[in-house]
Amino acid sequence: MQILSVASEVFPLVKTGGLGDVTGALPKYLRRFGIQMKTLVPGYPALLRAVKAMEPVVQFDELFGGPATLLQARAADLDLLILHAPALYERGGGPYIDDQGNDHPDNWKRFAALSAVAAEIAGGLMPQWCPDIVHTHDWQSALASVYMRYSRARHVPSVLTVHNLAFQGQFSAGILPALGLPPESHGIDCLEYHGDISFLKGGLQTANAITTVSPTYAREILTAEFGMGLEGVLNARVRDLVGIVNGIDTSIWDPASDAALVERYDYLDITPRLANRARLQTEFGLDSDDCPIFAVVSRLTWQKGMDMLATVADDLVHRGGKLIVFGRGDHDIEDRLAGVALRHPGRVAVRLGYDEHTAHLIHGGSDAIVQPSRFEPCGLTQLYALRYGSVPVVSRTGGLSETIIDANDAAMSARVATGFQFHPVNEDGLKLALHRAIAAFRDPRLWTRLQHQGMRARFSWERSAERYADLYAALLVARDGSHTPASRALG
Ligand code: ADP
Ligand code: GLC
Repeated sequence: MQILSVASEVFPLVKTGGLGDVTGALPKYLRRFGIQMKTLVPGYPALLRAVKAMEPVVQFDELFGGPATLLQARAADLDLLILHAPALYERGGGPYIDDQGNDHPDNWKRFAALSAVAAEIAGGLMPQWCPDIVHTHDWQSALASVYMRYSRARHVPSVLTVHNLAFQGQFSAGILPALGLPPESHGIDCLEYHGDISFLKGGLQTANAITTVSPTYAREILTAEFGMGLEGVLNARVRDLVGIVNGIDTSIWDPASDAALVERYDYLDITPRLANRARLQTEFGLDSDDCPIFAVVSRLTWQKGMDMLATVADDLVHRGGKLIVFGRGDHDIEDRLAGVALRHPGRVAVRLGYDEHTAHLIHGGSDAIVQPSRFEPCGLTQLYALRYGSVPVVSRTGGLSETIIDANDAAMSARVATGFQFHPVNEDGLKLALHRAIAAFRDPRLWTRLQHQGMRARFSWERSAERYADLYAALLVARDGSHTPASRALG
């Protein structure tokens, strides 16, 4: 089976968050099910620099404002199709934002181009390769199935994975002529959204199957609270909606072989963690004592509850906790967190940055990872924390609620607890969870048990990749005749 994955980021070549982790890992794990996945990505400068040998396969004289070339390459154990379109991608900043932190003003064009080329590939653009299925991710590639609906690829099945419903790719209807789509695509059953155009809505209306990254989030997005205005569309398509929880790439996130750690370890002996902990304290200028180190590796945003953490951080310090915050995000939240660090030298360290190496060291040396998200489609940080023996303190929402088992009495005596959950998701809830974690930390036997139980939890990609493989197979059966809704195919 041949699948075209269309993605705006792919680890390790370009990544801003969990989306890149997922699109980078899934192709490797699908191979064992006889599935070849090629990934179509934009030719960002950093990606072109990282991929050495590229072979041109198709030339476009004019693609959304300039010439472009579709390149083929193999890099980082991935089969890549790279859309090299200098007018769209050759510039500073990141995949979505410029150096000042503002969205690239032509993002609609940049990702429409990616999606349009995906649809052409599905329609037979490349003489030597044609996918059986197109798999898109989030709004940046959601338009592919819209283009497919109006092209010779209309019979090729498509899957849209929603990693985060908060980002919808909503633009003025004025762009419609430039998209090259027929006027009827701007209807309620396709792109039209409150008079505007929504790339994500278009994808939700036209993809054959919709997946999201945890079963809990799949249920949550059907409600007004989490549906972000698209709950009506999602309810209408509920028969084709499934939640498949993300896994983690255990070859990249493995404390037994991780080069970012000072000392490596596994669950049989976690004492070497102490060397990582000591390094972390030195590197972040924290007092070297036995008080628990709580850590954050995250986008510093409202979604991630980082404003709540800024509010309760003083209390955390007064209770004896230390805090490391590593990430970037909304400037007002960054400023508030920086203020907390100024008030508590040696107890709180805030570093604004983005770096894989530091992220790994924090997982391998901190005592607990804090993730107080207001909503969380899946969340990968808590899964990495489990594997690295850092105990997650999380809100009970989305993927967090089903991947972490709260350390209540029942779960502790059944020896299955892996972390601390709180609900309702507010500052008092977070504060209480942090108090519970500090109390548990003071009982070394109990804490070590929690670490061990977390490290033995299994969140590898094998099982989840199999669910995607089953979904693809069901879509091909449906294409060939009998209609099998995605949700029924997966039981
Ligand atoms: P989201 O995709 O919503 O940001 P996830 O938990 O799914 O959340 O994934 C976040 C990914 O981004 C993880 O791989 C995490 O390690 C990484 N990450 C977040 N902040 C940083 C940072 N400051 N430096 C390096 N990696 C980071
Ligand atoms: C999104 C979500 C996160 C999820 C990631 C990968 O960024 O916010 O919860 O883990 O995508 O699917």
